[in-house]
Formats: sequence, C-alpha cells, structure tokens
Amino acid sequence: MGWMKILGIETSCDETACAVVRDGREVLANVIASQVDIHAKTGGVVPEVAAREHVVHMIPVLDECLSASGCSWDDIDALAITQGPGLVSSLIIGTETANVISYVKQKPLIPVQHIVGHIYSNWLEVSEQIEFPVLILTVSGGHNELVLMRGHGQFEVLGETRDDAAGEAFDKVARMLGLGYPGGPVISRVAEDGSVSAYNLPRAWLEKGSLDFSFSGLKTSVLDLLKKEGRSDDQFKADVSASFQEAVVEVLAEKLKTALDMNPEVKEVHLAGGVSANLRLREVCGEKFGDIKFRFPAKIPYCTDNAAMIACAGYYLYEKNKHGVVNIVPTTSFSFSG
Ligand code: KG4
Ligand code: ZN
Repeated sequence: MGWMKILGIETSCDETACAVVRDGREVLANVIASQVDIHAKTGGVVPEVAAREHVVHMIPVLDECLSASGCSWDDIDALAITQGPGLVSSLIIGTETANVISYVKQKPLIPVQHIVGHIYSNWLEVSEQIEFPVLILTVSGGHNELVLMRGHGQFEVLGETRDDAAGEAFDKVARMLGLGYPGGPVISRVAEDGSVSAYNLPRAWLEKGSLDFSFSGLKTSVLDLLKKEGRSDDQFKADVSASFQEAVVEVLAEKLKTALDMNPEVKEVHLAGGVSANLRLREVCGEKFGDIKFRFPAKIPYCTDNAAMIACAGYYLYEKNKHGVVNIVPTTSFSFSG
C-alpha cells in the first residue's frame, strides 16, 4: 500500500506518550500516561519524580499503543523520538528506549525537536493540503515562539519570549491564587465567572514592531495586586483570572497579527502548544484572522504534549531526508532556546 507508519515517543516533561501515525496524518493510536495528579501535589514538576514515573510507564504505554494501533513491530516503518528541549532526566528515558528498539528491530530513528513536533500537531487528522508559508504561534509552558514555516522542515523564528512562556505565567498565577496545577485549564474555567475589565493589568508590547514576548512583568503585577487587595474569595479569583487571561491573550493575538502584517505572503495562521487549547485565545484569533485560513490542533490532546505530533513531524522530516538511513538530523536552521 506504500503507507508509512511511524511510532512516536515523547517524554520531554511529565507525559509518557507513544503514538502510531500513518502518513503523518492518520492517528492509529495515541496513548498518554499523564503525571498531572502527582505534580499537582507539589504545584509543579519535580524532575526526579517525573523521571521515575517515566521509567514505570514507558514500556506499558508502548505495549498499549502498539496493540491499540493494531500493528505489530513488522508493520512499523520508523521511530520518531523527541530529542529536546525538555527535562534531561525525562528525555533520556524516551531516547534510550527508542535507541534500543531501533537497534534491536532495525528501524530508522528520526530525532524530532519538541517545538517542531508542536508545530506539526496541526497536520494531524487534516485531510486537505496545508498551504505554505504558514505562520505559527507555538505557546506552551516551556516555550513561546512565532515561527514562519516556508516548507516542510524549514523554520524561521521571528520572535520568542524573553523571560516566561505564557503557559508558565498561567501556571504561576494559578499557584498564587491557590487554584492548582496545571494553571491554564483551571484559570480559563474560573475566568468564566469573572470580568475581563475588573483589573487593568499590563501588556508588555516591548519595542515598536518587536515580535518578542515578555510575561514576567504581568506575573509580578498579579502578585502585587493580590498583596494589595488581600482577598481570596471566589469572585476575586474569577476577576483576576479573567483580567489576567485577557492580558495574555491580547498580547499573543496582537503579536501574531503584527507578524502576519509583516509577512503578507503567509497563506495560513496556526496556533500550537498547550496554550492553544485556550478557548479565549482561539476566539480572539478567530475574529482577527477571519479572512485567512486559521487553524488550531484538531483535538485538545494534540495541543498539549503528545507523541502523535512527534510521529507526524518524523514523517515529514523523513520524507524530506529519504536518502539518509538511521539518525536523520533535520537540515533546518533551528534556533529555539529553552
Ligand atoms: O505543550 P505543553 O503540554 O507542555 C510544554 O511543552 O510546555 O503545555 C503545557 C502548558 C501549561 O503551562 C498549561 O498551563 C498550558 O499549557 N495550558 C493552557 C490551557 N491548557 C493547557 N493554558 C491556557 N489555557 C488552557 N486551556
Ligand atoms: Zn510541549
């Protein structure tokens, strides 16, 4: 049939994830063992704890993924693995597992940069052709970039955060408000009962025309506000959440618009990464980008860390580098930090 099945593995932070994806688009299985409950107790990820959990879950997740996909090892054409960035002690569990399978089963191993994986989450379960150039806002707990993608494997970073990523700000503000971890989903839920104009929080636009981001000042402003008001009632939390979320969303959407204006040849605008699950961000961007093809991942689990996006990215990088055999290093100009 000539269809290519790639098994992806992702362990860069606190999710042990495996997926099988056919031809970069059709998800045959997507299994995620989340450690959220464990890290919720500490209000964030403790690297040693995350690594130990990966050791426990790696092989069961792999087994479950293979059987859910209906594939045997013979059906798998290649492996794709998150090479970084991420927590080193977490990454190593995935990369070592992939290396061993690749060696024993004699399968090509495709290393995938984590943020490139997030970018490819918008190809999953999409049947029509995606047109280049694509402008992507990829925004998570650990990263926050504006990327111009001119073709498969060709990425230009137009702007990035100078301090915290937006997702990290969500997590920290949720912690200050005593709302738990991860912060993004709970803040957006609580914000539904609040007013976006209750508190006027700062927007860091930076220099005129800058496509970089900064969210640490906003975080500090929320902390100052909490100290000043000395309240912890539900209405207060809802108002702070709504005002904070609006400040983040406004900056993200406006910078994306500026990047589009500066690159008028762009055909599509995409959101990716954990924060692309945010409904308010999708809504505001939907209004701003009504006259251009605007996408976000087909399902919420494709926004946050998953292995389907890694398998998808692996497929397109492999297609581009077909003449390589094992360990294909993408020929791109990555300059992602973090
Ligand atoms: O992509 P991801 O799973 O991990 C990283 O690569 O960092 O993103 C996780 C981040 C967390 O900071 C979480 O608070 C945020 O994504 N997030 C959200 C939402 N869902 C997850 N932020 C805002 N709104 C959401 N609905
Ligand atoms: Zn991620």
